Amino acid sequence: MATVPSLAATVRLRVSDALSAALPEAASADPLLRRSDRADFQANGMLALAKQLKGNPRELAGKVTEALPAQNEDGTIARIEVSGPGFLNITVADRAIVENLAARRRDERLGVPYADDPGTTVIDYSQPNVAKEMHVGHLRSTVIGDAVVHLLEHRGETVIRRHHIGDWGTNFGMLIQYLIEHPHELDHASDTADAKDAGEAAMARLNRLYKSSRALFDSDEDFKARARDRVPALQSGDAETLALWHKIVDESKTYFQGVYDELDVEIRDADIVGESAYNDDLQQVVKDLEESGVAVRSEGALCVFFEDIKGPDGTPTPLIVQKSNGGFGYAATDLAAIRNRVGDLKADTLLYVVDARQALHFRMVFETAQRAGWLPEGAARQLPFGTVLGKDGKPFKTREGETVRLVDLLDEAVERAAAVVREKADASVAEEEIQRRAQQVGIGAVKYADLSNSMTRDYVFDLDRMVSLQGDTSVYLQYAYARVRSIFRKANGLEPVPHPERELVPAERALALHLDGFGDTLVTAADEYAPHKLTAYLYELATLYSRFFENCLVLDPGEPEQSENRLFLCEMTAKVLHQGLALLGIRTPERL
Ligand code: ARG
Repeated sequence: MATVPSLAATVRLRVSDALSAALPEAASADPLLRRSDRADFQANGMLALAKQLKGNPRELAGKVTEALPAQNEDGTIARIEVSGPGFLNITVADRAIVENLAARRRDERLGVPYADDPGTTVIDYSQPNVAKEMHVGHLRSTVIGDAVVHLLEHRGETVIRRHHIGDWGTNFGMLIQYLIEHPHELDHASDTADAKDAGEAAMARLNRLYKSSRALFDSDEDFKARARDRVPALQSGDAETLALWHKIVDESKTYFQGVYDELDVEIRDADIVGESAYNDDLQQVVKDLEESGVAVRSEGALCVFFEDIKGPDGTPTPLIVQKSNGGFGYAATDLAAIRNRVGDLKADTLLYVVDARQALHFRMVFETAQRAGWLPEGAARQLPFGTVLGKDGKPFKTREGETVRLVDLLDEAVERAAAVVREKADASVAEEEIQRRAQQVGIGAVKYADLSNSMTRDYVFDLDRMVSLQGDTSVYLQYAYARVRSIFRKANGLEPVPHPERELVPAERALALHLDGFGDTLVTAADEYAPHKLTAYLYELATLYSRFFENCLVLDPGEPEQSENRLFLCEMTAKVLHQGLALLGIRTPERL
């Protein structure tokens, strides 16, 4: 395993060394290197620096150019020219480009570095609610969380996943009481082996239970009273009550797993640590907050107040840790979870992949935990995501105004994908294979659309666009991957072999330099928790690949070395597309 610095990083270092040699005051100044169309890179840093030192930027750039040869002994930089008001245009040597890529190929991580000082991150994502359907909000949390987990793990971070499912609360009183009085309500024939079907059946039973108990609750005062009395029994851990609660939670987990299976994400049972897990800690949380004065009683409720958080009428909006009737809400549980995650799990970083509409809640919870001394400043961070909108620009709903069931949405995505796949495939491809590809294309499309939008933005859920072969979609990337793979099936004995001695044409350079930037992109995407930076990189890669493919004949029997070198670029493209998409949770079928 060997880390391979990108050429961009090497060039930046060389220029910055030349800069300090030319001008000792400029040591450690950033040369502000960018990819450029005129040369391979452009450094703009001389402009600001000259201004700061009251010098002439062109003169400074000239001095850097003169100081460069001493720094550039291995010949990475082939040419450097002063241009415009004092930019540096920098061209790297063809040899350096191919050699660098060859070094990446020898490493199974493609030369991508581990973080220097990895720590432990606890990430709270995919937190559906028991006895309820999953909806598009849960889709976003699941898909984004899964990608962030992979990106961080790839950097060597220890990641502890927490699915803070909504498995506690007063509404369980009603469901459990109904089950006590109708003990066969959840009975059923044994589950099918198919996770999705089993999940759907479980959800159907839960829906039925919910509807019947709700109807009784609303029409029968005596039942309502019995249901309310069931809540303290649950909270105090009464055995019969708990057993039925478990039954409901297990039904829900069967349903969740069915959805996760379809979504092609790995959610492990041990990581499902719901709100109920913190039930025993809530009294202590309250006691400590009250004793330390972080929280105060106000109209019977235990509240935390904030200088700058006020309602529309100017009165302060508190975080309510305990209600006046003694009940605990969402805040107390989140506070207990923070203590567990920092204190017991030894997290350095806490992430919460939760809807942006909960931003105020998390701000208050984090601030409270800091005041209480449970959370170091800056250690917790919400990764807020925007709302999924319908084509009408309003929050995504069915025509009847109901929330869209996630399973229906995924089914439709796969169905649309099947149409696209079927059209592309030749007649000999069996229907089973079409369905297999459609699954990977459809689910990939939904994930990609979600990830390629910057997280905080709302986005329109538009399946037609998502499964389109044109534009910034996963299908376009999967198709690029399949096209690369198909070349190898036609290679007729030719192998990918790097030839650093060969000159590169522009389309080859552009592709190769972009491939070399994979590691830099992954570092940024992981450090900034920004999967969309990886999708943008991969999209650009696929675009550069098709330009390369149009301009450069890959398999040319008369030019074996050129073919080998081009096959090598193809191979690297496939590897990067495959690894990059895998980190985003998207499959790369061999044929499309
Ligand atoms: N279960 C909640 C929902 O479906 C999200 C929970 C978010 N996580 C947390 N630690 N509060 O909206």
